[in-house]
Amino acid sequence: MKKIFNKINTLQWNNGALEMLDQRLLPSRVEYPRFESAAEVANGIRSMVVRGAPAIGCAAAYGMALEALRLQAQPHDAFFAGLARADALLAASRPTAVNLFWALKRMRTRLDSLRGAQPPGIAGALLVEAHAITDEDVRLNQAMGQHGAALLHDPMRVLTHCNAGALATAGHGTALGVIRSAVAAGKRIAVYADETRPFLQGARLTAWELMQDGIPVTLIADSAAGLLMRRGDIDAVIVGADRVAANGDVANKIGTYGVAVLARRHGIPFYVAAPLSTIDAGTACGDAIAIEERPAAEVTGHGGTQWAASGVGVRNPVFDITPAELVSALITERGVTRTPDGAKITALLR
Ligand code: MRU
Repeated sequence: MKKIFNKINTLQWNNGALEMLDQRLLPSRVEYPRFESAAEVANGIRSMVVRGAPAIGCAAAYGMALEALRLQAQPHDAFFAGLARADALLAASRPTAVNLFWALKRMRTRLDSLRGAQPPGIAGALLVEAHAITDEDVRLNQAMGQHGAALLHDPMRVLTHCNAGALATAGHGTALGVIRSAVAAGKRIAVYADETRPFLQGARLTAWELMQDGIPVTLIADSAAGLLMRRGDIDAVIVGADRVAANGDVANKIGTYGVAVLARRHGIPFYVAAPLSTIDAGTACGDAIAIEERPAAEVTGHGGTQWAASGVGVRNPVFDITPAELVSALITERGVTRTPDGAKITALLR
């Protein structure tokens, strides 16, 4: 059975395996390596074959289903022990995006409800759950898109940072989903894409993704955003999120905080689009969110080319925290929450 979710397929289920678009190769090559175990999926997440908070969650859910299918001939105890190892392996793949842990918890809950069943039946049910998580993600993004599109005027020039599009989700996207929905509603939206150093999600992914859909996009160096805002060339900023704390602070791709500060300085609205599964009610504020630090090689060069001196000291934190006070509105599948704070987040989750 082949299950495809969108025009740009970030991930697809094909004949007993998960195929994921290798985002490290974009935009030069479109390749779908196959993943057949939780260990392979965990490697794919760690090495950025798949990235973006919701997409990581979907991949992890499939990782659990794949492991269950792989171990279904094992005795009951060995089967459950193997799935516990798979869960731990996937949970250790990346630390910041809470959707990973949200999806694993949902798979665990399903697994717990099936304790009395035989492994082949459980494996089938876990695959159905992974499909459901992925289908739901597309629907939630479309709902978010509808709500968020109302915030965008016609015409409008919108800056985005990183890639919060179809490539970061099972389809449609969060921040880019809002833009897609606004364009579908007939609004003329022109996007400025920050290149997003050091991994270049903006240059390699967002620009390519928007070009696939014929949405006007202009690529800028991250450091050009301030000048463009000062000149009046940007009307709004919209980004996704990897985790939203209980007080509304937002963890997103490194550089987002700087963009939010600039937007406030220039009186430009700063919108965050994220599903409820990105809200972590158990984390009080942004400073409590684990910020992933990735290899120095991502800063000293790219794609096999090194431009910095060998041996130079490097820090590579790949996410930052934007305080809630800088967020004009949080867009979720439930609607638009203006000036989010702890009380509004609590109400949203009720
Ligand atoms: O390191 P990445 O590429 O996984 O980081 C992705 C982001 O920061 C996205 O903006 C975020 O996950 C939102 S995706 C809908």
